[in-house]
Order: sequence, then structure tokens, then C-alpha cells
Amino acid sequence: MAHRMQDKIVIITGASSGLGRATAELMTAEGARVVMADISQEAGEAAAQEIGADFVRTDVGNPAEVDALVSGTVARYGRLDVMCNNAGVHAAGPLLDTTNDDFERVVAVNFAGIFYGTRAAGRVMAEQGSGAIVNTASNGGYLPTEGMAVYCGTKAAVVAMSKACALELAPKGVRVNTISPGTMLSGMVPDVEGIVDVLDKLQPVGYAANPSQMATGILYLASDDANYVTGHDLIVDGGATAGRVALGV
Ligand SMILES: NC(=O)c1ccc[n+]([C@@H]2O[C@H](COP(=O)([O-])OP(=O)(O)OC[C@H]3O[C@@H](n4cnc5c(N)ncnc54)[C@H](O)[C@@H]3O)[C@@H](O)[C@H]2O)c1
Repeated sequence: MAHRMQDKIVIITGASSGLGRATAELMTAEGARVVMADISQEAGEAAAQEIGADFVRTDVGNPAEVDALVSGTVARYGRLDVMCNNAGVHAAGPLLDTTNDDFERVVAVNFAGIFYGTRAAGRVMAEQGSGAIVNTASNGGYLPTEGMAVYCGTKAAVVAMSKACALELAPKGVRVNTISPGTMLSGMVPDVEGIVDVLDKLQPVGYAANPSQMATGILYLASDDANYVTGHDLIVDGGATAGRVALGV
């Protein structure tokens, strides 16, 4: 079977771990040249070496670093076909104890970081007349969790912002979509004894996802299979947002 991303130039942020790493592996296996970006240099370099990809240390909360990631990729490869703005940070804690710094840290990565990446890639892709941007949101944007106001708020905002960008960039040949994962066993799962069991039980399908089960969704949205899909949010959550499960009483 032909490779779905043959010779495509792809940037993935938050690629040292979890979903970003799984997406880098899948895109590389599908023939793409992948530039992995992450704030975590050591893990990112090791992952990139294993996968056979490039690594560029990038803090997505810093617009100059995001612009440099994109311009450096274009300088090296001549174009940019796919931008996966995936980096995110988990945040949980009571609303009344949330400090300004807590709030700003999460917004800087989960919302501003996705905006900076969409803008930088959008500029290059609009000029090229082609490209696909896939932004990682969360089903927490639809199904907010107690104690996660800022995290869930940023994820709902990513979906709305990406749809607005999709409208603006559609006439220029650039597609913008989001993926809203459900609970995934990644670096984001808190290190608490018995947590995996609890997370498994909360899912209608009976288990929390492996990041590779989300990476296939990103691949679809990034690939030419989705060439008429833009402004879409693909929820991949094992049915968690479908409704309530019966309690059997
Ligand atoms: N794990 C889940 O249950 C879940 C559910 C829904 C959505 N998501 C989203 O999926 C995306 C990937 O998360 P994951 O589950 O793979 O978690 P993860 O912690 O395994 O990976 C996140 C990566 O982002 C990187 N990162 C953090 N801050 C950064 C910054 N400022 N600049 C660049 N990189 C940065 C981290 O170093 C890490 O490698 C995130 O946007 C997350 O919000 C996760």
C-alpha cells in the first residue's frame, strides 16, 4: 500500500512523549519527514533518534521560538505540509486556589501555543497555497471536569479558534482541524497508585486509550484522505461524550 504521507514535511509539537511521539512514529512510518519539537530537550532528542526524525527544542508558549521552528523547517526542506500543534500541559486544582501564574502557564501552552503555531504555519501554507493544520484539543472541552476549569476552558477555546482559522484559510488551500482525545495513558496521567484502573472504568469502552489510537485520527486529518475536511473537530474518546452510561439500577 502507498504511504499516505510520502515526502510530506510535518512539524509536531509536544513530540517527546505521549500523543506527539506516537504521531511522529506513525507519520514517519507513512513516509513523512518529521520535525519533532518539544520543551523537553533530552527526551525529545532521544525520541527523534529512535524514530529517525529531526528535533528542535521549542517552547510553544514563546512566539519567537515557534516562528523560528517553522522558518527553520522551511529553510531546511523548502516547504511545510502539515503542522500538528499538539503540546499541552495538564492542570488540576480548585478554582479558588488557582493563582494568576497557574492560569497564565496553562493558557500560554494550551491556547496561545496553539495560536502561535497555527499563525506561523498558516502564513507559510497560505503562501504555498496548500497545507493542513491539526490542533490537539480535548473532550474536556465538551465534558468539563471539576477542578480543571482552566484546562477545559483552553481546550474548548482551541476548537473555536481553529474553526475561525479554518474559515479564513479555506480560500487559500489550507485546512485547519482539531482532534479532541478522550483519556489517554500518556505522560499526562498523574502518578497516583491505582489511577489507571479508575480511568479505565470511567470510559464507556472499558479502558483508557493508547496514544497510538489518537495518532490515527491526526493522520487522517493531516492526510489527503481528508482533503474536503476543514473546520472539523474529531472526537476520539471511546464514547465518553456520547452520553451517560446506565448505572444498572
Ligand atoms: N492524556 C490525556 O488524557 C489527554 C486527553 C485529551 C487531550 N490531551 C492532549 O493531548 C496533547 C498531548 O498530551 P499527552 O497526553 O501526549 O501528554 P504528554 O505529557 O505525554 O505530552 C505532552 C508533551 O508536551 C510537551 N510540552 C509541555 N509544555 C510544552 C511547551 N511549553 N512547549 C513545547 N512542548 C511542551 C511535554 O514536554 C510533553 O512531551 C495535549 O495537548 C493534551 O492536552 C491529552
